[in-house]
Amino acid sequence: MIKKTLIAASAISLSAFALTACGAGADSPDSDSDDTIVMGFAQVGAESGWRTANTKSIQESAEDAGIELKFTDAQGKQENQIQAIRSYIQQKVDVIAFSPVVETGWDAVLQEAKSAGIPVILTDRAVDSDDTSLYESFLGSDFVVEGEKAGQWLVDNAGDADVDGDGTINVVQLEGTTGAAPAIDRADGFADVISADPSIKVTASQTGDFTRDGGKKVMESFLQSDDTIDVVYAHNDDMGLGAIEAIKAAGLTPGKDIMIITVDAVHDGMQALADGEINYIVECSPLLGPQLMEIAQKVVAGEEVEERILTEETTFTQAEAKEALPDRQY
Ligand code: AHR
Repeated sequence: MIKKTLIAASAISLSAFALTACGAGADSPDSDSDDTIVMGFAQVGAESGWRTANTKSIQESAEDAGIELKFTDAQGKQENQIQAIRSYIQQKVDVIAFSPVVETGWDAVLQEAKSAGIPVILTDRAVDSDDTSLYESFLGSDFVVEGEKAGQWLVDNAGDADVDGDGTINVVQLEGTTGAAPAIDRADGFADVISADPSIKVTASQTGDFTRDGGKKVMESFLQSDDTIDVVYAHNDDMGLGAIEAIKAAGLTPGKDIMIITVDAVHDGMQALADGEINYIVECSPLLGPQLMEIAQKVVAGEEVEERILTEETTFTQAEAKEALPDRQY
């Protein structure tokens, strides 16, 4: 593609994008003058610590790989992501990557990219489409497995989780963004595994949109209407951290009066786990940048890539968090 100067990886708002995104259009005067790869990346937003770490990983890895990155922040809106992808198609970037806000509604814009001959790589989140020819590869976690791991820990620790000793474990669930793959899959995986133990029941479930503030508000309303909550299952650390604030404000001790299970293992979550305020975290790694750049280089070179590339991840107990914290990168 075009563009002699490398690496313009900057986080800019979508409205600013149209005006300021630099370089690399097909009409640029230096078009085809070198072989620098230009990637358009449409990010979900900045809703969580996980997302911030993911954006940093992508921007730094692009720079390391000598890939010019055009970056947009869709501020949690699918229409913004679609607009960004259309803009990348117009600019004739070499490759488009994105993490879909929600699972459905992508076929039309992905078909436009395909017709323009621009390969698409999905990172972090999947799309729900029957046509897998619309993208080259999907790099990210198995969110169903993450939900299963969370559920399995609860089943294995059901005795401790029944804090009030009434024989029933009442779980409230803080869901991620409605319609997003991690919200759907983490709920499914968890529900599937806890169904093995009839004493565990999800008594309330509501979206906190993967944000700390959302988790806090939803937990406040759960606490106002129910004083029998034993466990919070939050689809990410940020909502779990918001729930901790609400639990403390209600005069209860998080991690003791109410157990908390979360997903992500970002630094603040790990600190709360080490401090005993969260009880268990299922890791979801945001460090997808290096692998994404490798896949992009292969795709642009016309090499075969795997259709599904799974991220490796683990789980953390309180003791394991204390040990891992000093070396945690994010
Ligand atoms: O898609 C990954 C999820 O999105 C993370 O678990 C959550 O924190 C983020 O907002």
